[in-house]
Amino acid sequence: MSDNQKTFEQLIHSRRSVRKYDQDTPFDHDAVTRSLELATLSPNSSNMQLWEFHRVVSDDKRQTLAQYCMGQNAAKTANELVAFVVTPYKWQSRAELNAAQIRSAFSGREDATAKRALKYYEKLIPFVYNNDRFGIFGAARKVLSFFMGLKKPMVREVSRSDVRVCLHKSSSLAAMTFMTAMRAEGYDTCPMEGFDSKRAKQLLGLPKGAEITMIISCGKQAEDGIYSDRHRVANDEVIFSH
Ligand SMILES: Cc1cc2nc3c(=O)[nH]c(=O)nc-3n(C[C@H](O)[C@H](O)[C@H](O)COP(=O)(O)O)c2cc1C
Repeated sequence: MSDNQKTFEQLIHSRRSVRKYDQDTPFDHDAVTRSLELATLSPNSSNMQLWEFHRVVSDDKRQTLAQYCMGQNAAKTANELVAFVVTPYKWQSRAELNAAQIRSAFSGREDATAKRALKYYEKLIPFVYNNDRFGIFGAARKVLSFFMGLKKPMVREVSRSDVRVCLHKSSSLAAMTFMTAMRAEGYDTCPMEGFDSKRAKQLLGLPKGAEITMIISCGKQAEDGIYSDRHRVANDEVIFSH
């Protein structure tokens, strides 16, 4: 086994969801900065990067947010809380940014690859991301994709709620990178979806269209910070070959 493999295995094995942090150990908030910068390198759908990472460091805001995390110990005893947020309403500017990036990368080229790449951000992305308040556009796309799918393979996830799922997938990948990076920094984390999303959004000043994927608490685990041994179902119950 190479050194890289050993280090990676060790990181994955040592990451646990920590429910109680040692509040006497000094905490380096720069570790969160570095880990979030690595998180932004995570794979994400169409490189739209429709995510934001909201750090809550100050004592009073952190304690308020901990209460909104249903008063969980994992939140109350943390040194910092980070909300992983998706921002679907920014799709137009991100599509334009990607299109501009493609134009400069393919500058002077008029071939099929360049045209296809540009068409993706100028036509297909607007087609899928453009949603009205009632989800009618999405429902119409769903019907269209069903009929087109009768003849050839077709993407089926085209409704407004499908786009939400897609954004939360990308944000979750960033969350995983973040938690692994924090472990490499010698710190611990706990991902949480048990929170009052309405109050948490208000506290963070997020607009109506934003959604919190999860809130991750950070700190150094207390001696009794892990509540039980890790258990998983047998590999052959979840890993299949076809
Ligand atoms: C999306 C998500 C939401 C979670 N929400 C909470 C939570 O609100 N509170 C909590 O204590 N743990 C939460 N967890 C942690 C899981 O309970 C934990 O990952 C699982 O029990 C496996 O333990 P491990 O992370 O130590 O391997 C969450 C995990 C994920 C991925």
